[in-house]
Amino acid sequence: MSHPINRREALKVMGLGMLSTCVPALPAYASAKKAKKAKRLIFYFSATGNSLYVARQIGGKDATLLSISQEIHNENPVYEAEEIGFVNPVYCFIPPTIVQEFIARSTFKADYLFAVATFGAHSTIYPEFFDNLARERGMKMNYISCIQMVDTYLPYFDIERELADPKIQRIPEAVAAVVAAINSRQNYILPVTQQDRMLCDGYYRGSGRDRKHPTKTRSEKIVFSTDACIGCGICTTLCPHGSWKVVDGKSVAQGECENCLSCVHNCPQKAISIIPTPPEPEEPNRNARYRNSHVTLADLIKSNSQILR
Ligand SMILES: Cc1cc2nc3c(=O)[nH]c(=O)nc-3n(C[C@H](O)[C@H](O)[C@H](O)COP(=O)(O)O)c2cc1C
Ligand code: SF4
Ligand code: SF4
Repeated sequence: MSHPINRREALKVMGLGMLSTCVPALPAYASAKKAKKAKRLIFYFSATGNSLYVARQIGGKDATLLSISQEIHNENPVYEAEEIGFVNPVYCFIPPTIVQEFIARSTFKADYLFAVATFGAHSTIYPEFFDNLARERGMKMNYISCIQMVDTYLPYFDIERELADPKIQRIPEAVAAVVAAINSRQNYILPVTQQDRMLCDGYYRGSGRDRKHPTKTRSEKIVFSTDACIGCGICTTLCPHGSWKVVDGKSVAQGECENCLSCVHNCPQKAISIIPTPPEPEEPNRNARYRNSHVTLADLIKSNSQILR
């Protein structure tokens, strides 16, 4: 849930950043090889833990979970398993750029294919978009669904209000239903309505964002560190594009960016601010930050770090 400064955890993770010996090298390619024989292989992307939590629930004890932020570097991205799934957040009603790019460059062979997205307010056309993306790669999806959780998009959502929303109480039931559906190999694609399409069209007309890669940007355009930065380096180890570096004791954002806001949510000093992208408003509550309560900072670093690969 919303996480105040957790000094012990921050120090532990700082240790990970400075002494990479504390974290075993990420087993991206080794695990991909092993995964070829896996019964269920789940690819996930997660900036604040919701999708990682859901991926773990679907994975149970036996599945192999692979982080897309690591697997995107696999030079031989051919994956085979009895069941293959994708779990990630909804960004502007579609999958994050990194997820789209990973799917576009990889080959997946499985008897049963599923995709589950986590979202905060509206998933609208997501199932249709994902289905088409998969078709372009010659895959016929068996199951696509979405689970409503905390909305992490800070310009529109105050995390304190999100955590008090009755939707939070419905998460365990929603996750259990998705797990049961996938375990019984249900064939189901969440329907997209005309109203969903209108909502999505209205958003893209108003925001002027690119319809295929709406959140692909540069980190220096959307985030900056304030005077509260202590140069701990957590943002540098956490970013899925490695787009932060500490210069003279202060963190500076520069490089490719997913707009995932992982750096903003997980900075222990709350020292990262968002640069408003008109017509979006300024974030309503700078003090409220979020990480899924089942997921640790170390889990996110292990999933996304480009420095500790
Ligand atoms: C850049 C960005 C765009 C988002 N767009 C949407 C959206 O279109 N619809 C929605 O319901 N939630 C949206 N969200 C909220 C996330 O989909 C949601 O909070 C998700 O569970 C976060 O997953 P994670 O914790 O695994 O990163 C967005 C979040 C971000 C950071
Ligand atoms: S911005 Fe935050 S996470 Fe990054 S170095 Fe500064 S204090 Fe640490
Ligand atoms: S700079 Fe921040 S928002 Fe951009 S990709 Fe890195 S962690 Fe995500």
